[in-house]
Amino acid sequence: MSTQASTKAFKEAQTLIPGGVNSPVRAFKSVGGIPIFIKEGEGAYLTDVDGNKYVDFVQSWGPLIFGHRDASIEKAVIEAVKHGLSFGAPTLAETELAKLVVSCFDSIDKVRFVSSGTEAVMSAIRLARGFTGRDDIVKFTGCYHGHSDALLVEAGSGAVTFGNPSSPGVPADFTKHTLLADYNDIESVKKCFEDSKNIACVIIEPIAGNMGFIPAQKRFLEELRALCDIHGTLLIFDEVMSGFRASLNGAESITGVKPDMLTLGKVIGGGMPVGAFGARNEIMAMLSPEGPVYQAGTLSGNPVAMAAGFAALTKLKEDTELFSTLESRAMKLVEGMKKAAQAYGVEIQINAIGSMFGFFFNENEVLNFADAQTCDAELFAKFHAYMLEKGFYFACSLYETGFISTAVTDAMVDETIKATASFFKEQSNG
Ligand SMILES: Cc1ncc(COP(=O)(O)O)c(C=O)c1O
Repeated sequence: MSTQASTKAFKEAQTLIPGGVNSPVRAFKSVGGIPIFIKEGEGAYLTDVDGNKYVDFVQSWGPLIFGHRDASIEKAVIEAVKHGLSFGAPTLAETELAKLVVSCFDSIDKVRFVSSGTEAVMSAIRLARGFTGRDDIVKFTGCYHGHSDALLVEAGSGAVTFGNPSSPGVPADFTKHTLLADYNDIESVKKCFEDSKNIACVIIEPIAGNMGFIPAQKRFLEELRALCDIHGTLLIFDEVMSGFRASLNGAESITGVKPDMLTLGKVIGGGMPVGAFGARNEIMAMLSPEGPVYQAGTLSGNPVAMAAGFAALTKLKEDTELFSTLESRAMKLVEGMKKAAQAYGVEIQINAIGSMFGFFFNENEVLNFADAQTCDAELFAKFHAYMLEKGFYFACSLYETGFISTAVTDAMVDETIKATASFFKEQSNG
């Protein structure tokens, strides 16, 4: 496989853009090698600037649940563009998408659109603080909620990949209200409530995808809900990644636990930059211009992005079998990988919900970030390089999640499993 053109492109990009990338995890730092520069995507495939083709299990880190260049999303975007790119004034498209989003979740009456997941979470936290009149927040080690200052503490994903759990440039004063607990460990949350009587909200990825793929245990979420109720603290489900990926109706439909607030991103924009946060009326009424909590955005509710999101969610809603079909395909993939690994004596932990899947090279069940850190990172890096060479594009960090799109066929899954088996065979031959 030649990567000459990508190598050249990366070299030039590095002279103009820090690290050659506009988001750190793209840089392949944790797996080594150079990032592949993409020329185009079509259905399940990516083609790079050297002409290599890959089955894409990253899908722009989640948004593209229908694969690349989905016809109905593309058509909706082109139609919207013909009417103008941005107005900075209300459009019908915003209300239409809001109606669709609100109809999917029992827990929210109103939603506000922003342009990224980071913005959605940052705004939701401000609203939670404004609503409760409290300052402290609880987050879980290994959960990632975007790169705003107060949340860049023990975050998973890119921040971990670089061994920078927090970042220089974030004053200690800005994170002193951020309390940390361990995922799937209710005692650690109780400890936070003992330490502070001033907790505005607990924020969690109910189906975590930024320390590898680790769904929260149902019992843990139930206990978390109960604790928040006792203390008058808001529970925020950050479903920027899992929203419209694990199911149409959020983690609340899978676990039965309802949050007070919800943050969304990725799929909600169908590939365009959209984030959102929502809550019941009483909470949303605190938001400007209805209430005193300020939040704004020049391009928020952008009409082209709204059109893409509306097309994507409409399509998701129409196919009632979609998530079960994707889940069985994702399960088939990880079960096949597990069988292939075990045949050569490699232990691997697997999981899949809806169109999200994950695997850890680990002997024991992975329930939290500490467990995830005991995985064989070296083996993962070798796996990543081997699969890339064979035409399978997996996320370039073991702390990420895999995604299946509707464009990925059973035959592609079989091919992926076959390549996995040959990887483990090669490893066992030394
Ligand atoms: C759970 C979660 N929250 C927030 C974010 C931040 O979203 P964005 O990258 O759109 O700012 C991400 C990004 O991956 C995420 O996975």
